[in-house]
Amino acid sequence: MLPALGDGASARLGEDFLTVDLLNFDLEIVAIVLHQHVHFGLVLDGARSTFKSGMPSERVPPILFKDQVTASLRPSTAHLFLAMCNPCVGDVVCDFMAGVGTVPLVAAIAPPPSPQTFSLGGDQSDEAWINMQQNFDFLREKMHGCVDNGCTQGKGRSAVVGLARWDSRRLPLRDGIVDVGIVDLPFGKRHKHKGGPMLHLYERAFREMARDSKNMASLKYKDAAFTVESPDVTYTGDEILAKYTYETVVIEGTKAIPTKTLFTFKTKRHVPKTGLMLVGWGGNNGTTTTAGILANRMKLSWRTKEGERHANYFGSLTQASTVRLGNDKFGNSVYVPFHRLLPMLHPNDLVIGGWDISKQDLGDAMRRAQVLDAGLQDQLYPHMKALQPLPSIYFPDFIAANQADRADNVLTGSKQEQLDAVRAHIRDFKASHSLDKVIILWTANTERFAAVEEGNNDTAENLLAAIEREEEELSPSTLFAVASILEGCSYINGSPQNTFVPGVIDLAQQRGVYVGGDDFKSGQTKMKSVLVDFLVSAGIKPTSIVSYNHLGNNDGKNLSAPQTFRSKEISKSNVVDDMVASNRLLYAEDEHPDHVVVIKYVPCVGDSKRAMDEYTSEIFMGGTNTIVMHNTCEDSLLATPLIYDLVVLTEMAERITVRREGEGDGTFESFASVLSLLSYLIKAPLVPPGTPVVNALFAQRQCIVNIFRACLGLPPDNNMLLEHKLVSSIEALKQVREAALDGPFRKRMKN
Ligand SMILES: NC(=O)c1ccc[n+]([C@@H]2O[C@H](COP(=O)([O-])OP(=O)(O)OC[C@H]3O[C@@H](n4cnc5c(N)ncnc54)[C@H](O)[C@@H]3O)[C@@H](O)[C@H]2O)c1
Repeated sequence: MLPALGDGASARLGEDFLTVDLLNFDLEIVAIVLHQHVHFGLVLDGARSTFKSGMPSERVPPILFKDQVTASLRPSTAHLFLAMCNPCVGDVVCDFMAGVGTVPLVAAIAPPPSPQTFSLGGDQSDEAWINMQQNFDFLREKMHGCVDNGCTQGKGRSAVVGLARWDSRRLPLRDGIVDVGIVDLPFGKRHKHKGGPMLHLYERAFREMARDSKNMASLKYKDAAFTVESPDVTYTGDEILAKYTYETVVIEGTKAIPTKTLFTFKTKRHVPKTGLMLVGWGGNNGTTTTAGILANRMKLSWRTKEGERHANYFGSLTQASTVRLGNDKFGNSVYVPFHRLLPMLHPNDLVIGGWDISKQDLGDAMRRAQVLDAGLQDQLYPHMKALQPLPSIYFPDFIAANQADRADNVLTGSKQEQLDAVRAHIRDFKASHSLDKVIILWTANTERFAAVEEGNNDTAENLLAAIEREEEELSPSTLFAVASILEGCSYINGSPQNTFVPGVIDLAQQRGVYVGGDDFKSGQTKMKSVLVDFLVSAGIKPTSIVSYNHLGNNDGKNLSAPQTFRSKEISKSNVVDDMVASNRLLYAEDEHPDHVVVIKYVPCVGDSKRAMDEYTSEIFMGGTNTIVMHNTCEDSLLATPLIYDLVVLTEMAERITVRREGEGDGTFESFASVLSLLSYLIKAPLVPPGTPVVNALFAQRQCIVNIFRACLGLPPDNNMLLEHKLVSSIEALKQVREAALDGPFRKRMKN
């Protein structure tokens, strides 16, 4: 916070901003000038005596202070500072000159939605130290043991406070441990400082605080938009145009040849009004996806036995992760939220609808799913109750027989008529909500594989003709994909079956529509695509990977039939292939680790899927290393954020086009219809025919991030951090930091 405060305030207020007279005032106004906005806090109180008598005009939390040990910094001001700093869960909040401990204690007891933080505070004065401790004891007493001095957690939402007696010029803290620093500076007119003039204290103390403080640059950019300043990047009202040099290495025989290709990326800036239609809307994922959006939109909170919880988008790459943008002038890494890289759709703005073969409304379906806490379900129920799934295509042969009793909301008529009905549903949904576009996503039950037959589903024309002739071997999901493509809507498959028979891919390519799949990568496979990548890239040789799952939700019930289980088994089986193939030092050409997947239906565990994996690897000198992992997945809570990401990324991809400079007719092209950009979120990534599959998770993430960076003319983050490795650049950065601290102090000293 300090650099942000300093940068903002000194630029606008000049050198005098530290010379506030706090002796005589009736109205206290605290203005904090940041890069994007100013925060104001007002305290109306004419009676100066209230500093020592309990501040009646202020809503002081009754547990905060013993009345004889009140603070000169008003709790409301401390709270304002804190709110402005917007700390994250687990952040260390520190007041380096804490007085009687107002800031750490306010931070410790700040109620939700303030996140739980670790509070630190210290002071040099004997009087302050005694008062600080008394206040802390009082707080602990009032909170019935839920406050700990020493970072141990109490019951429920505990306040974790660490208090110390220290000299702010020589803090007993390691470098870079403080996330949020808040200080009400002692003003010279009221305080006599033993160590000499106040400016000397400030100078020394600020240096110390800067040393202890983490890279505050990331905090600064949490909510701020940014623009790229480069001759290669142009922002128009509608578009971002970025010239980008794509650097690759081409291998010819024994030569590696660095190659550069110049592209222009064009990104439409307007975020369209987007609808999401889910097939399987009434299922665990469908209801949780809908509930998650509503809960976030309404900013709901609910009580659980562990304490209060708040709606969030944890688990979503686009909503809850950050990307390293670059360094600030001091060499600190600057991270921005992923969704701020480009103008992206927000899940809260999605209009949601869909189909289900079960006619339960979304309220009752959410209760049937047993995924969300009851306290949240109860709040959402009236909103969800109003949502009714559309009738769907149901061919019993394609899913497990045990699903039949659910199928009371199905379309009838010929395959062509059902396809047309689905197309009409999409058009109606789009028109009735005045949407710019609709994306369709399959999160219905896993189907068995459909046979790929020549003349039936091998080309677009054959597929459309086969639908008309009522061919047997056409799955509901294939009909949905065809309907979606014919309506010009991107279609994503979250289940493992082979919806995308060659005829569907062909149709998507002809119509220039995106398709993505197959199967959400939420739990066990995600771990596998991280762990095997780590082992193989560390030179360790996995020789056997055995995965057991048991789950008790309707997905598990459906997968207990052999033909649907087979779809899942295939989807899970190829996940390590590319990583194994990447290291022929470990594996011979046709060698693979043994890889077995078992899935069992155990109703008792419900949506709380258990995944147990054993990885056996050969290590140095014939040794064996075995890793055993137990993962409680909470299936739909892991899958739902992936659904948001799949939709946000697909929609984003629809607004990006690329032109290769100096070649062709100069037109911009979209990505290939099979959107392999989505691989990060997908268990068995579908890629354009003839192109390689990448399963390694971090390579998949880098792919998305770097393409989005290219849209802004930014190079990939190379992680070299040379500025922190060469003595010359380390020294140069040190001088920049010193100069930033020196300037204001030296000038003040002269005056
Ligand atoms: N972590 C995860 O939850 C996860 C991960 C990867 C893949 N998946 C896949 O996502 C899918 C959904 O999972 P879930 O837990 O929500 O399952 P679920 O059984 O709770 O929901 C599926 C819904 O689809 C409906 N349905 C079945 N056939 C339909 C059709 N032809 N048209 C319309 N609706 C139909 C069912 O009535 C049900 O409401 C499954 O195929 C599952 O394998 C889930």
